[in-house]
Amino acid sequence: MRRYDWSRRLVRESSLSPGDLIWPLFVHDQAEPEPIPTMPDVMRLSLAGVVEAGRRAVDLGIPAVAIFPAVDPALKTDDAREAVNADNLVCRAVRALKDAGLDLGVICDVALDPYSSHGQDGLVRDGEVVNDETVDVLCKQAIVQAQAGCDVIAPSDMMDGRIGRVREALDAGGFQHVQVLAYAAKYASAFYGPFRDAVGSSGVLRGDKKTYQMDPANTDEALRETALDLAEGADAVMVKPGMPYLDIVRRVKDAFACPTFVYQVSGEYAMLRFAAQQDALDLDRVMLESLLGFKRAGADAVLTYFAPHAAALL
Ligand code: PBG
Repeated sequence: MRRYDWSRRLVRESSLSPGDLIWPLFVHDQAEPEPIPTMPDVMRLSLAGVVEAGRRAVDLGIPAVAIFPAVDPALKTDDAREAVNADNLVCRAVRALKDAGLDLGVICDVALDPYSSHGQDGLVRDGEVVNDETVDVLCKQAIVQAQAGCDVIAPSDMMDGRIGRVREALDAGGFQHVQVLAYAAKYASAFYGPFRDAVGSSGVLRGDKKTYQMDPANTDEALRETALDLAEGADAVMVKPGMPYLDIVRRVKDAFACPTFVYQVSGEYAMLRFAAQQDALDLDRVMLESLLGFKRAGADAVLTYFAPHAAALL
């Protein structure tokens, strides 16, 4: 059956389409786009650039984008207060996208790292990231983003109990229709390096995130994290990073049969891009193969910086 393309197609178990992809976008408060040296072809975009990317996503059949801010270092503080400013960069980007009237889902991260002077996802007291106080701030961050028009709130901070509290806060604020996508199994990974360059948190990050993000050695723990987030009201869950964690995607999908997303993170993008740049790999083929691998592992959707490139080939 492998001999002919027609019969290979007939027995193919997994498929990939633009409708499976979510495109992460970086926004900054400047008029011109700025390249990110560790992520070839990915730019920090202006507000107008984000809207243009949104239109491109719609044209390519990509259902949603995720917005990440590169915040002016002057606005980063220990208490990350810019995260709850209703007129911050992310909120302005969401409003600009929504004002454009596009049929496009807009996803926003909930976490403090783009706004904190220490680069941690939560508040730091006596050298420790404190869970409960952080959750209070995350709820406020979710509300300002929902007010701006965000469709999907995606807590990526890995604090305990935040999904339930964010859900309650959204409901109480009149945002019952806003979805919650939980970064349920997010590992303390070295593959986030280029992302931290992109949002300007790598230079400032003190220490690591091992006290709240998951240990890469664990898999049962991913199921416990996912079970908690679903019980607290998550509409969809995410596994992150992607390629080194396909076993986790499969276990989560098998255990919960829930909408399961996976994030092909910045380091995975950089790895394939730089290898292709050196002529070691054929970019189009490895890109599509890596994305199909997520589908085969059970993912419903993939966040990937390759989204426009891949969608154009599909
Ligand atoms: C912030 C956040 C990170 C990513 C998404 N949201 C970085 C981190 O946790 O340090 C990583 C995405 C990527 O590497 O592409 N909490």
